[in-house]
Amino acid sequence: MKMKNRAEFNFKKGWKNNPEGKGVEAKEPFKDFGTERFNPERYYSNEFMKLEWDNVWTKKWLLVCNVNDVSNVGDFYNFKIGKESIIVVRSSEKNINAFYNVCPHRGNRLINEDFGFIEKIGCSFHSWVFDLNGENEQVLDKETFRKEVLENDLNLSKVKCEIECGFVWITMNDKARPVRDYLGPVADYLDNYKINEMKVVRHVNSLWKANWKTGLEAFYETYHLSTVHPETQTMMEDYHVQIDNWDNGMNRMIVPFIIPSIRYKDRSTINESTSFLLGDVGISSEEFNGNIQEAKKLIQNKKREISKKFNLGYERYTDAELTDSFDYGIFPNIQIGCHPEGVFLFKFLPHPTDPEKFYLDTTINYRVVEGEEYSVPAWMGLPEDTDKSGKTRPEIVYYDENEKPDLGLILEQDSELIPYVQSGVRSRGFRGALWSEQELRIRHFHYELNNSIKSN
Ligand code: FES
Ligand SMILES: [Fe+2]
Repeated sequence: MKMKNRAEFNFKKGWKNNPEGKGVEAKEPFKDFGTERFNPERYYSNEFMKLEWDNVWTKKWLLVCNVNDVSNVGDFYNFKIGKESIIVVRSSEKNINAFYNVCPHRGNRLINEDFGFIEKIGCSFHSWVFDLNGENEQVLDKETFRKEVLENDLNLSKVKCEIECGFVWITMNDKARPVRDYLGPVADYLDNYKINEMKVVRHVNSLWKANWKTGLEAFYETYHLSTVHPETQTMMEDYHVQIDNWDNGMNRMIVPFIIPSIRYKDRSTINESTSFLLGDVGISSEEFNGNIQEAKKLIQNKKREISKKFNLGYERYTDAELTDSFDYGIFPNIQIGCHPEGVFLFKFLPHPTDPEKFYLDTTINYRVVEGEEYSVPAWMGLPEDTDKSGKTRPEIVYYDENEKPDLGLILEQDSELIPYVQSGVRSRGFRGALWSEQELRIRHFHYELNNSIKSN
């Protein structure tokens, strides 16, 4: 193993993906989140789960869905978070409402589908009806209610809802400031991907046997790649990764692609991964004589050509954004892997009752390109039968805890490993995690989590 660049790792400065990087590539100054170790009870105790519910899930902004999931008046999306279900529904061209999915009469759940279309919200128990603003329109046999009962609020309970960066967001905290303020600089960076023009083409929801944080943490660092996903070593640099941290627990990592890991023996001769990515932009590796650095440049140039041909506006991206992975972390439970062709959204959702289970909810938000000659990049890993027209919103594919989720090799490797991590962190012998500065995003996450719990 050749590791000569390791001395360059200065944890006070971190690593800059591009020393000249400005704008979107600018490196945030180092923020010190300390070296503390935390009680591992946070990964399995019901008490900590309750603290999170009271101080995080019901207080922070939460990402619900792509705005195109509710593009027409009457389109709704059923967002399940812990024991709650919240209905997001478009009530007019400009407005989206959110309500607790509960009938004010006797508490029946109003909607059980994941998403769909409704003209009115009707209750299946005693036929009360509400309009898309949640206003009560019908109480069956109204004359049988006493006046004092009808004087109560008969409308649906509203939840704060906003649209930003191509996503719908809700918060159960009426006092929350606008989501754009909460996101900080991440909002501008996400805007550049025009996610409001992307469509969900794949949606998988799988139940994992681990605390939601155990899951999230594995996506917040590249430190485990060489051990758990050795096949990534020919394709991406896992050691020199730029990490940026902003207020409110927002962060990101920039992972350079089309450059092998510094742990890998040969970083210059093109390998299988390089050939695969060259093929993706229509270049046969047999005809290509350069090294990996040249291949990366060529792929970037090719993408710019494709952009010109199909009018995709890639001028708004830096070269790195065209090829590397810009992974944004949004507190509490989101990671978004951004690429011009599409963004991969990962939501880590707590189980309603069991702190040792979570749902990984993943969507591929895809920029639909018209034109027969446009080929969907193979690296996106879309199954053959995926409808890429964006015309039909695909159903959510569910996997329970005993099934292997069909999420590609890398995520399968994670799904096999993570339950073991969970069973280890609840051992009496585990004294709390010892994070490296490659895992700074995890430390930052816990810093924000602790602050949220303390400040409410
Ligand atoms: S519970 Fe909804 S109408 Fe009775
Ligand atoms: Fe992993």
